[in-house]
Amino acid sequence: MPKVLVVYYSKTGHTAMMAEAIAAGAREVKGIEVIVKRCEETSNADLLNADAIVLGSPTYFRLPAWPVKKLIDESIDVYGKLRGKLGGVFTSTATRSDGEICLKGLRDMLEEHGIRVVGEGVLAIRTPNKKALESCKEYGRRIAEEVLKTSSIKC
Ligand SMILES: Cc1cc2nc3c(=O)[nH]c(=O)nc-3n(C[C@H](O)[C@H](O)[C@H](O)COP(=O)(O)O)c2cc1C
Repeated sequence: MPKVLVVYYSKTGHTAMMAEAIAAGAREVKGIEVIVKRCEETSNADLLNADAIVLGSPTYFRLPAWPVKKLIDESIDVYGKLRGKLGGVFTSTATRSDGEICLKGLRDMLEEHGIRVVGEGVLAIRTPNKKALESCKEYGRRIAEEVLKTSSIKC
């Protein structure tokens, strides 16, 4: 079964809420396995096993937080092997402008691996409100649907 991995860092819980909402949206699509992991617990094997990698971080100094960067830096060992997977990005931030820079940072990391990021990603200001959580769900659904489409093309 195709797998969507939602991998994130969160200190005060906002990005974690987004991760769970993205996973809930992806789970609405039948025939997809959805795994949610903190990036500190995520290995290169987890990245390799996933058909889609949805990466989330709080915005720290306009960029992704260091545990996310550490995961990606260590993924150099599988460089070239993640090519062709789908991806997604999300951030919780205090300000929209800084969050947009962080989203770009997350996207750049995935794209450097040859991962195709679906859409623009999701940005929420601090504690995600109902509307932001709905956007997360919708994003998760969209990624899962794309994964299904891509995997049926491969078959
Ligand atoms: C070390 C640190 C740096 C931060 N830097 C920024 C920043 O540059 N721009 C911004 O808008 N918010 C910044 N914030 C606010 C966080 O992005 C925001 O509180 C976010 O909701 C935290 O997510 P979390 O609950 O998942 O940890 C910073 C917070 C911390 C703790």
